Amino acid sequence: MTLANSSSVFRVPGLALVCLAVLGACGGDAMAPSGLSTSFGRIQAQILAPTCITCHTAGNAFATQSGLQLDPAGAYQNLVSVAPTSATARADGLLRVKPFRADSSLLYYKLRWEAQYHVRDYGNLMPLGGKSLSVGQIEFIRRWIAGGASRSADDIDTTLLGDATPPALEPFAPLAPPPAGQGFQLKIDSFAVGAQFEREFFVYRALGNPRSLFVSRIVARMRPGSHHFAIYTLAGAPAPVIPGFDVVRDIRNRDGSLNLVNMAPMAYHVFLGGAMAQSSDYQFPAGVALRVPPNTALDLNPHYVNQTVTEFPGEAYANFYTVDSAQVQRVARTLNLANTSITLPPRQRTTVTRTFTMNTRTTVFMLTSHMHYHGEKFVIQIAGGPRNGEVVYESRDWAHPAMLTLDQPLTLDVGQGLTSVVTYNNTTGLAITFGLTSEDEMGIIFGYAY
Ligand code: HEC
Repeated sequence: MTLANSSSVFRVPGLALVCLAVLGACGGDAMAPSGLSTSFGRIQAQILAPTCITCHTAGNAFATQSGLQLDPAGAYQNLVSVAPTSATARADGLLRVKPFRADSSLLYYKLRWEAQYHVRDYGNLMPLGGKSLSVGQIEFIRRWIAGGASRSADDIDTTLLGDATPPALEPFAPLAPPPAGQGFQLKIDSFAVGAQFEREFFVYRALGNPRSLFVSRIVARMRPGSHHFAIYTLAGAPAPVIPGFDVVRDIRNRDGSLNLVNMAPMAYHVFLGGAMAQSSDYQFPAGVALRVPPNTALDLNPHYVNQTVTEFPGEAYANFYTVDSAQVQRVARTLNLANTSITLPPRQRTTVTRTFTMNTRTTVFMLTSHMHYHGEKFVIQIAGGPRNGEVVYESRDWAHPAMLTLDQPLTLDVGQGLTSVVTYNNTTGLAITFGLTSEDEMGIIFGYAY
């Protein structure tokens, strides 16, 4: 993997002594946090503390999801030479910060908002729901990594940190729908995301397809500030729970409380597609297409985070490209492996393990998961065969499960299978069992397979 400008590695010696009194960035400043006389200390004080720690701090749900705390005491150990939580970045061999190699450092990708850095889905751009760092700040971090990600050196031009030039980003452009006969588009028109608010909602849409459709590629594009855009079908939902078409069902009321009625259909969701990156292009393996049955209806789920003090617009598109059934060599289906025997005694952590054995040869090429509020960790292992016990997937946030594309599809012979190992923390005084409401628990492996 190479980046357009990764070759321009140069250092500016001698500038370490430049003292930017105006920024309060001088080593002897009485107000300065300790460690400010190092490049990493400057990154902490001038970038991580003001723009990242709101989320990446111990106990915050975003820190749990990302598995990354950037609190001053642990930021260096948690970044440098550590494997990322992002399953795709990990599979690509990236580290959060790989000394000397910005182009193999997930941190660097997360900070570059330009589209050319995001051919792979490494998730959201950082700072999520805020404004991009300046050109100078990003360059300071790039030079810090390129120089070896030292903890003690102070040899990078500190004037970069005072630069306020925003990166030159292409303005957001709506995604053009697929040409007639080559697919369909699902879109969520522009909507307001209030200041300092997380807006997540569902809209149930009828596709109106008289025949089966065969999807071979999903392209998604979202306006900045997006956390994810997920698309579900509803399986087995009783009539009272099935939402009306085209109604916007917000998960959160404006005061931050949850709207449980609008959330009720979530219990019947089966993952169909989605993306966490602002722009993504997922191509099914050659000759493989996902069958979408006639008269399908889909629950569209955009999620936006606004950390700024002004309202901004959200907008999301997903193009489903279809192929003629004659071109499909293998019809893919959504995998739905649910464990319905879950019993969680009160006030303790319980790990529930369940193996799903295949009775036909099954090739899996995408994995994601589903658990509820008390779920802490969802691990998927291979069961049987030469790779018995190997962990292929891990997710730590019930509300935002990781989606893993297996570039090397995983073929399971008859008798082999997948094991879900799910850890729940029942903090209540009552036993919790399997069930559909958000008070109950679930443990489902979703994915694509043929
Ligand atoms: C509004 C909350 C929020 C803010 C602010 C934020 N992040 Fe994140 N960050 C997240 C979430 C959620 C994830 C996990 C999902 C993802 O990677 O898309 C994440 C993931 C990451 C990851 C990847 C971790 C891994 O191992 O996969 C890095 C690196 C990161 N953030 C760095 C930063 C930096 C640097 C800043 C500040 C410039 C920042 N974040 C600001 C919410 C936030």
